[in-house]
Formats: sequence, C-alpha cells, structure tokens
Amino acid sequence: MLKGRSLVEPGDFSIDELEALFRLAEQIEEDGAYLRESCRGRLLATLFFEPSTRTRLSFEAAMLRLGGSCLGFADPGSSSASKGESLADTVRVAACYADAIVMRNPKEGAALLASRYATVPVINAGDGGHHHPTQTLTDLLTIKRLRGGGGRTLGETVAGLSLGFCGDLKFGRTVHSLAKALARYTGLRIVFISPPELRVPEYISRGVLAAAGVEYQETGSLETVIGGLDVLYMTRVQKERFFNEEDYIRLKDSYILTAEKMEAARQDLIVLHPLPRVNEIALELDADPRAAYFKQARYGMYVRMALLASILGVVSC
Ligand code: CP
Repeated sequence: MLKGRSLVEPGDFSIDELEALFRLAEQIEEDGAYLRESCRGRLLATLFFEPSTRTRLSFEAAMLRLGGSCLGFADPGSSSASKGESLADTVRVAACYADAIVMRNPKEGAALLASRYATVPVINAGDGGHHHPTQTLTDLLTIKRLRGGGGRTLGETVAGLSLGFCGDLKFGRTVHSLAKALARYTGLRIVFISPPELRVPEYISRGVLAAAGVEYQETGSLETVIGGLDVLYMTRVQKERFFNEEDYIRLKDSYILTAEKMEAARQDLIVLHPLPRVNEIALELDADPRAAYFKQARYGMYVRMALLASILGVVSC
C-alpha cells in the first residue's frame, strides 16, 4: 500500500507496487473520469527551490485533474528560505497546511531530510545531481507503453532490451534514477554514451549495475552503437551543475541527434528525453515517429495522478 508513503528514490517502492502504479496510470490514461473528484478538499504543496516546467506543472495538473488544489512556490526567493529559514522548518510548516509535499532542491539528500521532518508524504522532484524518481516513473511507464503491449509487465517488457543513455551522464539525475530502477530487472543491457568528463558515476555503474549483474558498456561514440539500441535516452548537458563555463561550452554539443544519425537506428527504436532539450536533439527529429519525448511528458502526468491518488489513499495501490 502506498498510502501515506514518501518517494525519495526509485527503490522506495517495490516492483509489485510499481506494476500496480503503472496499471493505475494506464487506466487513468484510458479513462480517468472516475477519479475526477477523488481528491476534492486535498492540498498539494509544491516547493520548488530550482526551476522546473514539466515536473511542477505535471504535478499541479495531476492534482487539479483529481479535483484537489495546489499551493507553493516556484522561486525560493519568494519564500522565507531567502531569509535563512532551514529546509526542515520549511517542510514542517508546509505539512501544517498541505496533505502532501512535492519538493525540488539543488542539494543532494534534501528530499530525504524533508521526508524525516514532514508529517505528510514527501515526493522528491529532484535533489541536485542525485535522484528524480517521478521522472523515473515517467520513463518506465513510457517504455512499458511503447515497448510493452499486450498487457506485459514492465519486467517482461525490458527483458531483452538494449537501452542507451547519451549525454551528460555525470550530472544527469534522471539517468542515475532510471539506471538504478532498471537494475532491479533482468535480461536487459545498458549502453552509456558520453564524453570521458561526463561519464556515469561509478556508484551507479559498478556500485549498482555491476553489483546487480546487469550487463553494461561505456563508449564515447553514439554512431557505433545506435543501430543496436531499442531505447535511446538523450540528455542535456547540465549547465547549472558545472563549476566553470569553459568546460560547459566545450562539452555542451558533444552529441546532437540528427535525422542523418537516425538512419542507422532501428525502425522500432524509441527516443526518449526527460526534457528540457537544448541542442542535443535536432528539431527535424520531432516529426520522426520514433521521437517519443512529448508522449513521455504526457505519461508523466498520468503516472503522477496515479502516484498522488495512491499516496493520498483515494485508491488502494
Ligand atoms: N524533466 C524535468 O524534470 O523537467 P523540468 O526540469 O522542466 O521539471
């Protein structure tokens, strides 16, 4: 049961709980009208200490579509954090007003700390370069919907798939969260594609994947591996996590996925991206049926509706 639970990192929910959540999200996608008033009278606090478009808006859309309401801030400068209030105090106070808290914060571990102080469930909407578990739910649901079919579970869907992660794998928290979540399944293969400076951290590659027996490879060349992939997860170079501008400028265009590069890819490849996109996917690709990143953004709202309905206890999941 997810009622009353926080979500700080991908492993907080069991595989069975995730499957139930995805089934609910799929039901909502098909016809969510039966949940339209389910959260009436409930409040969601969205505390964003870092910029966001998709995560904040999709959580707010999700809560509003469930009949609930939202309050919060999108700019920490407008909150009392700018006067020196501690995170612990901020979330304790938000919990006095709201039934659940969604929080994004630039510091790794902030969501865990918040979950220890808040008396209502805390959902991590991204903590620094660490984790982004609801993006992971979004990514997994997208893979299940676009590569599954026939009622297959996520585990059955990913068995046998080759999944490539390309771009900034060092700072990209969506990559860390998704790789960690995938490590719980068997029969898949991961290819990390990055410049040497932006390699995936060893705590993910060795500490999580190798420890779980997941086959993985690291390369700098997208062209040489794209033809073998079932899923290509592109990422932006995370300007805000660099210590100097020079390095960012040197690395920012390391990979640009173009229609020409896609000629070598399979016809059933799906291209995902957590967005925002900067320059790493050419606009010409948006018309390619294999480009799935805007569908992915839509699935993000369905899975967040399922998550909110579950943790608020209006459905049993
Ligand atoms: N994918 C994602 O986290 O996007 P935002 O930063 O716009 O929320």
